Amino acid sequence: MTFQTVSTKPIEGQKPGTSGLRKKTRVFMEPHYLENFVQSVFDAIGGGQGKKLVIGGDGRFFNATAIQIIIKMAAANGAAQVIVGQDGLLSTPAASHLIRLNKADGGFILSASHNPGGIDEDFGLKFNAANGGPAPEGLTQLMFEATEKISTYNIADIDDVDLTKIGSTSRADLQVVIVDPVESYQALMETLFDFDAIRDLFAGGFTMRFDAMHAITGPYATAILEDTLGAPSGTVVNKIPLEDFGKGHPDPNPIWAKPLMDLMMSDKAPDLGAASDGDGDRNMIVGRGAYVTPSDSLAILAANAHLAPAYRSGIVGIARSMPTSAASDRVAKKLGVEAFETPTGWKFFGNLLDAGRVTICGEESAGTGSDHVREKDGLWAVLLWLNILAVRKMSVAEILRDHWHTYGRDYYSRHDFEAIATDKANALMTDLRARLTDLAGQSFAGLTVASADEFSYLDPVDGSQSNQQGVRVYFEGGGRAVFRLSGTGTEGATLRLYLEQYAPPEGDHGVDPQLALGQVRDAAQSLCRMEAFIGRTTPDVMT
Ligand code: G1P
Ligand code: ZN
Repeated sequence: MTFQTVSTKPIEGQKPGTSGLRKKTRVFMEPHYLENFVQSVFDAIGGGQGKKLVIGGDGRFFNATAIQIIIKMAAANGAAQVIVGQDGLLSTPAASHLIRLNKADGGFILSASHNPGGIDEDFGLKFNAANGGPAPEGLTQLMFEATEKISTYNIADIDDVDLTKIGSTSRADLQVVIVDPVESYQALMETLFDFDAIRDLFAGGFTMRFDAMHAITGPYATAILEDTLGAPSGTVVNKIPLEDFGKGHPDPNPIWAKPLMDLMMSDKAPDLGAASDGDGDRNMIVGRGAYVTPSDSLAILAANAHLAPAYRSGIVGIARSMPTSAASDRVAKKLGVEAFETPTGWKFFGNLLDAGRVTICGEESAGTGSDHVREKDGLWAVLLWLNILAVRKMSVAEILRDHWHTYGRDYYSRHDFEAIATDKANALMTDLRARLTDLAGQSFAGLTVASADEFSYLDPVDGSQSNQQGVRVYFEGGGRAVFRLSGTGTEGATLRLYLEQYAPPEGDHGVDPQLALGQVRDAAQSLCRMEAFIGRTTPDVMT
């Protein structure tokens, strides 16, 4: 076997974003593109010598090819062992768990999450650290710096590994272990939740549809919900992971999971509808006729977590990303635990979880999770909901109403304006930033600004500072608008406008959210001069 040192040159734009490096698949397939980034990761972590690494992805086009390259580069960089999901598959939370379980030094996760897959769609790669969580900003910065000065990469001239066969083989000094992607993840779930209570729930006639969206959670949901918990066969739909996700957009929200939403709003709706995304870290929860926003779901899970065995003795704190609604803060207050507001992206939760400051975390973008891994976890959220439903014996709609009557309702919606010319989107944000200090006291579309700032975060654990994390505008009367640019897109810029309006416990909670948010939306659009900067005010996606 020979190790090759291949000459290369820096490739522009290999800066990891909100969640790793994400580009068009064809870009990743260009000569040296993947190799340069993988070598830069090895360089950033101090080399591969003796390291144990987990490797797996969501099965999208180029997944298996990329994994063979990463294995060859791991061998050439001196790694001792790689643990790879069978067929190259691992959901993101399962990968996080495997890193922790095996005390690995980290792992490569191949996914562009909820972005479509295929040769003309998106691909992504991220590195998670030894705690199982996405590399923190300090480390992604080192990776980026390495991509800017790379001149060679190391790759071994070895045969491809048969990813279909579970077991251990070696390639020179590298041990390659192929594992069942579901087994240890399922074992972890069984320690967290009351599987007997959930089994009784299904045995009692509780009905559910889980839409795996032709993505990674199909095998996980089938094994856990149908084969273990006794949900009838057919509960999990679109269960075979496809390289192009059936040409769909594997994003579990009311727009992209429309068939599920339509079913749940019809008279044929089962008791619970749920969906997960490309790599299995997002979730959507919808009851019969009752959509649960991710921000509400986070708050409800936190308020009821003690009903599941893992959290019986209570939670220590709740963290939410800044754009996520304040619903979970109200729960933290009532429970008397700490509440944290972090920048967008799961990597900011890692330190808080490692330090034991929080138990439950969540983002408005359909991500919820806990200290059981260091990623958000779609199926975990679904199982916690099932556990709560099994204990409380109420419908999803009843649980929602009960929650609002206790805490009030945070009406919430996110409006996305996609594929805007990058310079126009940047100009809007620059202009907004320049006017921030003058906004308080000014009125827009009949709403007066109470305060406005640009969010920056001082990590209370390691003292690192992250600036320019989005603009927050608070209005008199309990409204808030947040403006930020997406860090996961692969084409142009996406402006995200997050809208929120609080209605107290005694208020009317039955208003259509887009109506309840109409005034905040109008004020936000006028305040940022949206029409003038980007030439439109109709969003592409509203969640
Ligand atoms: C989006 C979401 C964010 C999430 C990330 C990865 O990032 O908004 O909450 O952590 O995807 O799933 P954005 O495109 O907004 O940077
Ligand atoms: Zn995802």
